[in-house]
Amino acid sequence: QHCILVGAPMDSGKRRKGCLMGPDAYRTAGLAEALRDLGHQVSDRGNVAPAPFTPKDHPKLVALEETIAWTEALADAAETTMKDGLPIFMGGDHALALGTVLGVMRHAKTVDRPQFVLWLDAHSDFHTPDTTDSGNLHGTPLGYVTGREGFDGFPAVDTPLPQDNVAIIGLRSVDAAERAALQETSIIHVDMREIDESGIARPLAAFLDKVAAANGLLHVSLDVDFLDPSVAPAVGTTVPGGATVREGHLVMEMLHDSGLMTSLDLVELNPFLDERGRTASLMVDLAASALGRRVFDRPTRAF
Ligand code: ARG
Ligand code: MN
Ligand code: MN
Ligand code: MN
Repeated sequence: QHCILVGAPMDSGKRRKGCLMGPDAYRTAGLAEALRDLGHQVSDRGNVAPAPFTPKDHPKLVALEETIAWTEALADAAETTMKDGLPIFMGGDHALALGTVLGVMRHAKTVDRPQFVLWLDAHSDFHTPDTTDSGNLHGTPLGYVTGREGFDGFPAVDTPLPQDNVAIIGLRSVDAAERAALQETSIIHVDMREIDESGIARPLAAFLDKVAAANGLLHVSLDVDFLDPSVAPAVGTTVPGGATVREGHLVMEMLHDSGLMTSLDLVELNPFLDERGRTASLMVDLAASALGRRVFDRPTRAF
């Protein structure tokens, strides 16, 4: 594989600062080296930057103009990079997915294949600028790419992502407005209770089968807060009761075995909140599992 690292030091999706240091934390933690050790060709294209923007005060939304500028720049970067290999977007907060998912959707259209999205997150990020209580736009990317209304000023989503092509796994913090909207959709939403009851492999395998049957492209968006804060403290929106290290690796190993992942976001890492780099290192290890690191080969799937 040709893995292309793209830095997205976007920090405008919420109030608390620090995610802008994410790309360099991944570089420091050895993401490129880990992927090279697996036999991949790795390029680091440096960091994306937004075009100049004029910030305005908004009664509710945080850094709207900056977020729009990032969305435009990242959509272009994602669409371009998809032609050359498997992009890994090193965030940056989750608002970066407004752009990366839009960009991979544009690419999928040009190659005439359906785009799928796997969202690994404690949160559903299904708000719109109208429904968000916090005003933090990192809570909106799934609303945007699936074509919800209210994203004035953002690039138009000409062909929204079909709800059937989205799965969210890891949920344990969903705002009332998001839950009401989500329940009206066919988006697959797997909360921690379901993971506890049936394991994380079962719903993931079902979704991967669906992607494979459709010959789809698969974008994976991994939010640090998918993981339990005890193992991944470097995130501003920790929610207790998250995925374990073992569940995280299992998801990544299954993604690798499926051969389906075509792009990856690593988001919400705030190195200012980390403990001796342990969260950055864990995220690098998870990315390595998604790209083929394994303990032993495993010939068959047991479920
Ligand atoms: N639902 C909350 C909000 O809209 C939390 C969103 C957290 N999103 C994230 N990408 N960490 O403010
Ligand atoms: Mn998120
Ligand atoms: Mn989250
Ligand atoms: Mn439902």
